[in-house]
Amino acid sequence: MPTALAVSPAVVDTVRIAALAHTADRLTIRWSDGRESPYPAIWLADNRPDRRDRPDGQRLFDAIDLPDGIAIGSVAVSAEGSVEIHLTGFDTPARFDAAWLRAHALDPASRAERRRRPVLWGSSLALPAGDYAAVTSDGGARAAWLRQAYDHGFSLLRGVPAEPGMVCMVVELFGFVRETNYGRLFDVVAVDKPQNLAFTALSLGNHTDNPYRDPVPQLQLLHCLEAAAEGGESVVVDGFAAAERLRRETPDAFALLTRRAVPFRYVEPGKVDLRNRAPLIELDAEGDLAAVRYNNRSIAPFDLDPDEVGPFYDAYRRFGRLLHDPGLTVGFRLAPGDLFIVDNQRVLHGRRGFSAGRRWLQGCYADKDGLTSTLFSLEAAR
Ligand code: OGA
Ligand code: ZN
Repeated sequence: MPTALAVSPAVVDTVRIAALAHTADRLTIRWSDGRESPYPAIWLADNRPDRRDRPDGQRLFDAIDLPDGIAIGSVAVSAEGSVEIHLTGFDTPARFDAAWLRAHALDPASRAERRRRPVLWGSSLALPAGDYAAVTSDGGARAAWLRQAYDHGFSLLRGVPAEPGMVCMVVELFGFVRETNYGRLFDVVAVDKPQNLAFTALSLGNHTDNPYRDPVPQLQLLHCLEAAAEGGESVVVDGFAAAERLRRETPDAFALLTRRAVPFRYVEPGKVDLRNRAPLIELDAEGDLAAVRYNNRSIAPFDLDPDEVGPFYDAYRRFGRLLHDPGLTVGFRLAPGDLFIVDNQRVLHGRRGFSAGRRWLQGCYADKDGLTSTLFSLEAAR
């Protein structure tokens, strides 16, 4: 039988502990907003604050060293609101901060709150943008710009000096350049003997970059140094919004794209031979979208059971049409000094063809850990 305790309120911002109950196996807290959060005994033992008191937050012990058959002996709330729990096999009670327990609660609503929810968008997106001078000089402006990139998978930055190399300087505001066979950065200009269709004046369909790499570059930045007089507009589309629409409208097509790997390849004879096999839509362990890959230039012949080729093409073409659907895409024109960042595992970019005038972009890649680490550190410091 659970042991119920009436307790004096412990303040967690505005949410307080209303009641506690426990069995040997678990503690249950009822919060003042009605939420009920269970905490299994072994989880409490493993997360005892006195086992993680190093200033860097790293733990000194391993779960394999926990005693077997941990049970909750008694529970009390202290005057200042912390929860004191006697666990079998330990000499001293564990003292948990109520706010910490709320922040790490295991009930479905609390777990859902901690899950990342990307902000999906379509053609009506008002393009998020930061200002270079503000982002370089002010942590709040930098966090706001990175937050847009994190939530939308896309953000513009205006007023970047239109000078070569600046795209790497922008990466260094939050992370580290990911160098590849194209260099630390690459020039996107039309040349006579292009190694890659990007280096022509042709239009580029919406794509993610470099799906032939493992790991794929997670972020891409493109910085405009010179804009063509005619054409060359950029296009972006939220691949997650398109994938969620596919999941809603044709769940079988969606499932097929998540369950079959396709080959991607990029070759410069004698020099470069990059290959990867991966699904066009990748899910995480919880079934949420983790990544999309789409690149008509580097997708290689499908390696599938012949009976599956027809349904796979149906699904692939359906996804491809969604990724070019005017209701989902956003077009804009980069002026010299404009830069954009995309989450290359979510947002596709493309460009219209161009004719008159010189056009010069510089691009480079980076990874998301630098972005998220800088973002979360700046936000936590405010
Ligand atoms: C690229 C690319 C787009 C552009 O270089 O990866 O997609 O606008 N370029 O030139
Ligand atoms: Zn590209």
